[in-house]
Amino acid sequence: ATHAASIPRNYPSITPPYATLIQNLEHIRNVLTRPLTLAEKILYSHLHDPISGLGNGGRIRGEAYLQLKPERVAMQDASAHLQFMSAGLARCAVPTSIHCDHLIQASEGAKADLERSIISNQEVFDFLESAARKYGIEFWRPGSGIIHQIVLENYAAPGMLMLASYKNSHTPNAGGLGMLAIGVGGADAVDAMTGTPWELKAPQIVGVHLTGNLSGWATTKDLILHLAGRLTVRGGTGRIIEYFGPGVHSQSCTGLATIANMGAEVGATTSTFPYTSNMQSYLHATGRGPVAQAADEAAAKGFLSADEGAEYDEILEINLSDLEPTINGPFTPDLATPLSRFGAFVKEQGWKDELSAGLIGSCTNSSYEDMTRVADLARQAKAAGLTAKIPFLCTPGSEQIRATMERDSVTSTLQDVGAVVLANACGPCIGQWKRDDKKGEENAILTSFNRNFRSRNDGNRQTMNFLASPTIVTAMAFSGSLSFNPMTDSLTLDSGKPFKFSPPSGQDLPLTGFTPGDTSCYPLPTPAPQSDAEVVIQKDSKRLELLEPFTSPFSDGNLELPSLKVLMRVRGKCTTDHISAAGPWLKYKGHLTNISENLRKLFDRFFCGEVNVAFDHDAPGGITETDTIPNVAKRFKAKNQSWALVVDDNYGEGSAREHAALQPRFYGCNLIVARSFARIHETNLKKQGVLPLWFSDKADYSRIGSCDVIQTIGLANLLQGQLDTIIKLKVTNRRGETFEIPTKHTMSTDQIKWLRAGSALNYIRSQMQS
Ligand code: F3S
Repeated sequence: ATHAASIPRNYPSITPPYATLIQNLEHIRNVLTRPLTLAEKILYSHLHDPISGLGNGGRIRGEAYLQLKPERVAMQDASAHLQFMSAGLARCAVPTSIHCDHLIQASEGAKADLERSIISNQEVFDFLESAARKYGIEFWRPGSGIIHQIVLENYAAPGMLMLASYKNSHTPNAGGLGMLAIGVGGADAVDAMTGTPWELKAPQIVGVHLTGNLSGWATTKDLILHLAGRLTVRGGTGRIIEYFGPGVHSQSCTGLATIANMGAEVGATTSTFPYTSNMQSYLHATGRGPVAQAADEAAAKGFLSADEGAEYDEILEINLSDLEPTINGPFTPDLATPLSRFGAFVKEQGWKDELSAGLIGSCTNSSYEDMTRVADLARQAKAAGLTAKIPFLCTPGSEQIRATMERDSVTSTLQDVGAVVLANACGPCIGQWKRDDKKGEENAILTSFNRNFRSRNDGNRQTMNFLASPTIVTAMAFSGSLSFNPMTDSLTLDSGKPFKFSPPSGQDLPLTGFTPGDTSCYPLPTPAPQSDAEVVIQKDSKRLELLEPFTSPFSDGNLELPSLKVLMRVRGKCTTDHISAAGPWLKYKGHLTNISENLRKLFDRFFCGEVNVAFDHDAPGGITETDTIPNVAKRFKAKNQSWALVVDDNYGEGSAREHAALQPRFYGCNLIVARSFARIHETNLKKQGVLPLWFSDKADYSRIGSCDVIQTIGLANLLQGQLDTIIKLKVTNRRGETFEIPTKHTMSTDQIKWLRAGSALNYIRSQMQS
């Protein structure tokens, strides 16, 4: 296929520096003399210091901290941008792009929805565009598509290491092109954007050996739905999933991207595949012939696949010939039921056998292959005189996909049977779906998206959301029933005759190449930074605010935290969602002051079991007052009173939302003492300059209460580089009793520098200035 597009391509910025990476790997092989997996090759060849970055070797996976040099960053919103701006650089150290895909609500159809969203979010889009201009960032305007699809079509390349920030769990989608793409918080993205080494605890590697062939109705979506059932939502935590075996090579590149995309549903750091001829074809078809040629050469040198005999931490076998379509859910992506059992499952649960909507597309499943397969089913249905029985919505992943679908009559074929094609944006996948007819009502929807927790799509907790391949969603949209199995069941036509779908077929790439569509939403090919450009933030904006650097609590030379007041002891499960609520608050994520008002969610399960209540024992007049969490925290902040939290086990589990660390820090939190922390949140706290400490004896958790005063003993030694220091907490409780509690820390040498500077950003800024 030829690429007919006029989408600008900048080859140096999108071709990994293979010669350097291969050379780096030679240094690594002097230290690690064993065969390497593909994921290890990509990670280790991106070490900031490939000569001594792995020390003397030994056990790396699951233990060592790697200092890495990603080649590219993609961002979705204002948060990372604002943090980058406060680092004080004139330009990004690596090529960076920004994408507007979350704020477009699906309501009337693509054109009207896009126009309305541009007006209602104008100030955010103006800010992003102006900041992109100033710093030389590629700006993808609203309507251009979903970040992960755009990355796959334009930037992804075999062997590359890239990061994407904020709400980027599905960044690994780009793994479909044989690379490592990792979703991170804004502060991590800023590391890469400023050329600071980015730290990652070396993940374990799970190998998935694929044999056999998919056939009939089974797709790569069914593979990952099946795998999610086997691994569960936690099975991939701290691990990279690396697929290998003959079954990899028979899948299209975009089919592999679907698998990689949903590795997020099992908690994997990312997923990847060895370079295949289908990846090569996809690079050519998307106008990146020179990248394909460079990748061919790198593959010939063994860089883009695992070494013979490479060892994995665990190996799973999947015979593709045995796979059947699978439906997962509701409410969790790991509840997997084979299609042949699904009707019985619905009956066992006592659910109404009724489907209320079918949704296809999103960043997970809107490839040309997906769309031509569903169009094949739509054509069969139309020929039989059928139309969809329920609302049937389609979200193209990008303008290129939308325009190519339109040119090749895929869109009109879908519309002929009643489908509505929405804007090229996240839409209903992220809850941007104006759906009024089912409010509060129990109902079931089927989507080809990737997430299905409660309220995800339409804000209705009663909507049961099941995940399936686009072809299963499409076929079932013609039956309107949950128990319909298109592989075995027939529909009854008006004539009374039975109609049965034939297994769908499609094309992985368009024969005449992709067409770019409306290029006005694409970025300039190589935007140069314009240092004199003004970054547009409206006066009195409620959605955007420049970030003030956090002050270091050690700037007066005292390296202990002298008198921290305990704001609260948190009891039980506390996820990042409890700390920083999402939903309607998301629109404030570029305004730290306003979003910090949602800190109140923290207290759903807290002290006294009351919601959003904190005590202030030093209220004016010497009395004890109760107030909302943000109000007490604000009062502490106004008095310059640093404070601490005492928290339970696995504090900060859930999504990697960095506002859960930013917000407490904003109000003056300097210390959190936990029975245990969730790893990503613990790192986020360190990045924002909050010291996380673990109780040496978990029973000590109960000895500290609200408004007790804590002082650290031994922190000064840690801040001076003594990593084996034991930090004690001297606690003075409200009865005036004093006692000491031993703790443990997990700070690395680099993280100590962040803490001392007040935040990782402060440290980066000081490095840049010096
Ligand atoms: Fe958007 Fe849903 Fe993908 S929110 S980025 S389409 S997972």
